[in-house]
Amino acid sequence: MDIFSHSLLKTAVGRKVWSRLLGPRSLSKRTGTFREKESFGLVARPNYVYGMLRAADTAKFFGFSEVTACEFGVATGRGLTNMTEVAALIEQETGVRTRIVGFDTGAGLPALTGYKDHPELWSGGDFSMGDPEQLRQALKGKAELILGDINATVAPFVTTLTPRCPLGFVSIDVDIYSGTVAALRGLSGEHGLYLPAISFYLDDVGSYFSNEACGELAAVAEHNAANSIRPIFQDHSLPGRRSQPFEAWYKHMYVCHVLDHPYRNHPRDRGALSLDDHMAFMAALK
Ligand SMILES: C[S@@+](CC[C@H](N)C(=O)[O-])C[C@H]1O[C@@H](n2cnc3c(N)ncnc32)[C@H](O)[C@@H]1O
Repeated sequence: MDIFSHSLLKTAVGRKVWSRLLGPRSLSKRTGTFREKESFGLVARPNYVYGMLRAADTAKFFGFSEVTACEFGVATGRGLTNMTEVAALIEQETGVRTRIVGFDTGAGLPALTGYKDHPELWSGGDFSMGDPEQLRQALKGKAELILGDINATVAPFVTTLTPRCPLGFVSIDVDIYSGTVAALRGLSGEHGLYLPAISFYLDDVGSYFSNEACGELAAVAEHNAANSIRPIFQDHSLPGRRSQPFEAWYKHMYVCHVLDHPYRNHPRDRGALSLDDHMAFMAALK
């Protein structure tokens, strides 16, 4: 018999005893709920799981049942495939469905345009996708794949966003400044196309060469200088009360604050809440 399926483990006392014996992380690995595993970083690509769960929780908090999640920079599709798997777990947990959209040239990095694109690290053509049809088949219709330079594809994509399924999570994994600038143009639609706060994962902000004058960080700094009403700042909720206080990916998580969103300007019509109600209501957003 698998001792971890024993009913004793399902009682509070049983879990306390096993937690002492194994440590809470090991116990969660064996028997934890999805949220416990997420909190311990036990689900593959914890950065994507965190950002997508933030998007679903925020969507639910504001009364949406669908949310859009994008990956800019797909390469062979490992991240996009992971997002489809994560979306299924998140829908089970929250009831919120995630529309997943991936963007890539299909032919690897475009020609680099100067020092901001980190030519000391990358070259045009790096990270080619291979056969896009093979990836499309592997995705089994669970994610959309938009091929072409993001400069050309992002504006048509924004026209497909709807207030029913607003943008809630973005991963920027294009490595270079020019592709990041293009991706951030996706934030210039009507406020109703976005959640009031959009979780961002920035992949290339932690190397020895990373700096605010180049790459993804430069694109974000310039976006903020030009868009004070939709700035992108580091996610201040991390590590918060999470079980693992020092994960490397925390400093890659950002939030785009859609400050012109009506929900960030007027209280919603939801009735007055007591302190206890409020704590329960806010728990998902801590
Ligand atoms: C490091 S790879 C992405 C890795 C992928 N996210 C993963 O998790 O496996 C970077 C990708 O960004 C794409 N890319 C960079 N600039 C782009 C642009 N302007 N338009 C479209 N794709 C771009 C490249 O084609 C390349 O495949």
